[in-house]
Amino acid sequence: MKNFKQKYGSWALVTGATAGIGAQFSEQLAKQGLNIVAVARNQSNLDALKLKLETKFHISVKTIAADLSKQESNQLIIEQTNELDIGLLVANAGAENNGLFIEIDESDESQLLALNVVSPMILSHAFAKRFVRRGKGGILLLSSLFGYQGVPFVANYSASKAYILTLGEALNVELKPLGVDVTVLSPGLTKTSMTENMTIDFNKVPITSHSPEVVAKIGLNALGKKATVVPGLINKIYAWENRFIPRTWPVNLFGFLINRAIIKH
Ligand SMILES: NC(=O)c1ccc[n+]([C@@H]2O[C@H](COP(=O)([O-])OP(=O)(O)OC[C@H]3O[C@@H](n4cnc5c(N)ncnc54)[C@H](OP(=O)(O)O)[C@@H]3O)[C@@H](O)[C@H]2O)c1
Repeated sequence: MKNFKQKYGSWALVTGATAGIGAQFSEQLAKQGLNIVAVARNQSNLDALKLKLETKFHISVKTIAADLSKQESNQLIIEQTNELDIGLLVANAGAENNGLFIEIDESDESQLLALNVVSPMILSHAFAKRFVRRGKGGILLLSSLFGYQGVPFVANYSASKAYILTLGEALNVELKPLGVDVTVLSPGLTKTSMTENMTIDFNKVPITSHSPEVVAKIGLNALGKKATVVPGLINKIYAWENRFIPRTWPVNLFGFLINRAIIKH
C-alpha cells in the first residue's frame, strides 16, 4: 500500500468507520500514521474505535456521531472538519433493503437513497473542492458488484450503487488533472454485519465472499491507480460479463438466484 500520509496529508475522513469494511479502512489508514475523522451514528462504538486506534497507532481520532441519511448531517461534517487538513475521503457508509420492491416502505427506500447516494455526492462535492484548492487529495467511493447491473429484490440498493459507480468513473477523469484521485471500490459479498442481517441465504447464490480486511486493502491499494476496482476474480467476471452479453441475461439470472435465496418468514 502506498504511503497516503505523504501523498494526501495527515487526516482522512471515513464514514461508516466503526464496523465492517469501514472499520478496516480506519485501521489500515491509522496503521499508516494518518489521523482519522470517524463518522457513524453510534457514539459508544465511535468511542471504542477512537480508544483502540489512538492506543494502538498513536494517532488522533476525531469522532462525529451523525446519521448521514439526514441531509443536515453532511453539512455538520463539512463544518466540523473545516479546521482540519483532510486529504482523503472514504465515503463508505451504506445500507441495503431487500425483498419485493412494492413491499418495502417507500420511506425506507428514500432513506437508503439519502445515505447511499445523496450523502456521498454532497461529501464528494465539498471535499473535492477543498482538495482542488490544496492541490491534492483522494476520494474512495463504495459501490458494489450489484452496481454493475439491476438486481431484482435489491432493486433500489443496486440502483443506488450504479449511481456511485457512474459518478466515480466520471469524477476520476474530471478531477485527475486537478490533482485529485477518485476510485470506486465495488465489493462482492463481504462478511460484515450488513450481510449477516440480510434475509438472503447467500449459500444459495454462487458468489464467493471476502473478509472486510481484504476488501479494504484492495480498495486502498487501487486509489490513485484505477478508476474502479472489483475484489476477486469471480466477482470481476460477474462485473465484466455485462459488456459482452445482453444486459437482461444477468438481471434475469440474479432475479432467479436472489428470489430462491430470500428467507421467507
Ligand atoms: N458487506 C457487503 O457484502 C458489501 C458488498 C458490497 C458493497 N458494500 C458496501 O460497503 C459499505 C460498507 O458496508 P459494510 O458491509 O461494511 O457495512 P456494515 O458492516 O453494516 O457497517 C456500516 C457502517 O456504517 C455506519 N452507518 C450505517 N448507517 C449509517 C447512517 N445512516 N449514518 C452514518 N453511518 C451509518 C455503521 O455504524 P452505525 O450503525 O453506528 O451508524 C457502520 O459503522 C456500504 O456502502 C455497502 O453498501 C458492502
